Amino acid sequence: MLGVIRTGRKVVLGVSGGIAAYKACSLLRLFTESGYDVTVVPTAAALSFVGAPTWAALSGKPVSSDVWTHAHEVPHVRLGQHADLVIVAPATADLMARAAHGLADDLLTNVLLTARCPVVLAPAMHTEMWQNPATVANVATLRSRGVLVIDPVSGRLTGADTGPGRLPEPEHIFSVCNQLLSQVEADPQPGPLAGRRVVISAGGTREPLDPVRFLGNRSSGKQGYALAEVAVARGAQVTLVSANVTLPVPDGVRLELVQSAVELGEAVAKAAQDADVVVMAAAVADYRPAHYADVKMKKSFGLADGADGFDGSDADQSGPTIELVRNPDVLAELVRSRGSATSPVIVGFAAETGDGEHSVLDLAREKFVRKGCDVMVANEVGADKTFGQDTNTVHILQRGVDAVTRAGPASKASVAASVWDVVEDVLFSG
Ligand code: CTP
Repeated sequence: MLGVIRTGRKVVLGVSGGIAAYKACSLLRLFTESGYDVTVVPTAAALSFVGAPTWAALSGKPVSSDVWTHAHEVPHVRLGQHADLVIVAPATADLMARAAHGLADDLLTNVLLTARCPVVLAPAMHTEMWQNPATVANVATLRSRGVLVIDPVSGRLTGADTGPGRLPEPEHIFSVCNQLLSQVEADPQPGPLAGRRVVISAGGTREPLDPVRFLGNRSSGKQGYALAEVAVARGAQVTLVSANVTLPVPDGVRLELVQSAVELGEAVAKAAQDADVVVMAAAVADYRPAHYADVKMKKSFGLADGADGFDGSDADQSGPTIELVRNPDVLAELVRSRGSATSPVIVGFAAETGDGEHSVLDLAREKFVRKGCDVMVANEVGADKTFGQDTNTVHILQRGVDAVTRAGPASKASVAASVWDVVEDVLFSG
């Protein structure tokens, strides 16, 4: 009896280059016959023992060892990210050394670096290699990171020698994997965003004019903070890039404080590098003053003193002219740098007042196309609308989906939940 089996779960079977590779064929059979969806990732050395056609025929899937084959599907990232379990059998001393040091020089080591699921290694090698201090240290490192390393069994090795180093029988390895999967199922992660890295920008940027003045906007950060709170509750690891917000920081977030659009852009771009989702809820200034005055500007020392005829005297009712320059468009830059990849999912907000000819939704649709993000949350803003309020009403647009999700009027927490429902849809269908 091999335990309770749930079908359809995705398993990556890594095979490294040892004579015991032939036993992995039986292990593969045990998985596929039990309904698992198995992708075999052999190392180049493993293919010297058992060829790619064998793995492809037994798994019913294409097989490759390098990251260049089917590169458009980004297998080096996708396989690990989407797996429910990664099992490497046999795991050689070399494979464990590379894994322990975080190398990513072939497809299997890339899978091990991107996996968020349980990882099981079943080592097989000669006794001397298993007992070598280098291997012992590598195994200890891997175990300390949560990898389940099954001890090899003692017995006849490749030659006439015997000792610890033999690959356990496939039935035993299969049973260990099943038990592990059952444990994960019995003790599920806290929510649908478990293990996902999320970056949220919130608040409104301030563009300094001098040490006491800035150009700002009315954003309070309430909607962005609500998005962060809901994402944490759903299990995500959240980085909150917060611009000038005075709200309590939600528990469990990693907070980055910024002031200006340029600072916000740098913080978001850095955090986005390993993110699954980036939500641009912040109100980012499109322009900043071209010149920053190091000392407080005086009436008598107007910014453009003299340049526009302003003489700074009390009698002069004209004001200085503030020259502005464009800020980077953080959202558009995120979309541009992602290129043709599908990760991270990028969410924009469209703050619109509408005008005589166009509704808020019309303008948001146009902005959605222009920005090229995956989800656009449109809300109507104004001096007493949305900004600073506890409630919100939004239209959520999703790329490739005609229907618009409407949420609110409702609390910003409830609107945040609706936004995450749509984002999860994109995330899990991607
Ligand atoms: N945004 C950004 N960088 C900017 C301006 C805006 O990343 N310099 C992001 C916002 O965080 C939001 C989206 O772009 O997610 C739309 O912001 P919005 O102010 O509504 O639109 P703009 O791009 O500024 O266009 P416009 O001012 O013409 O409406």
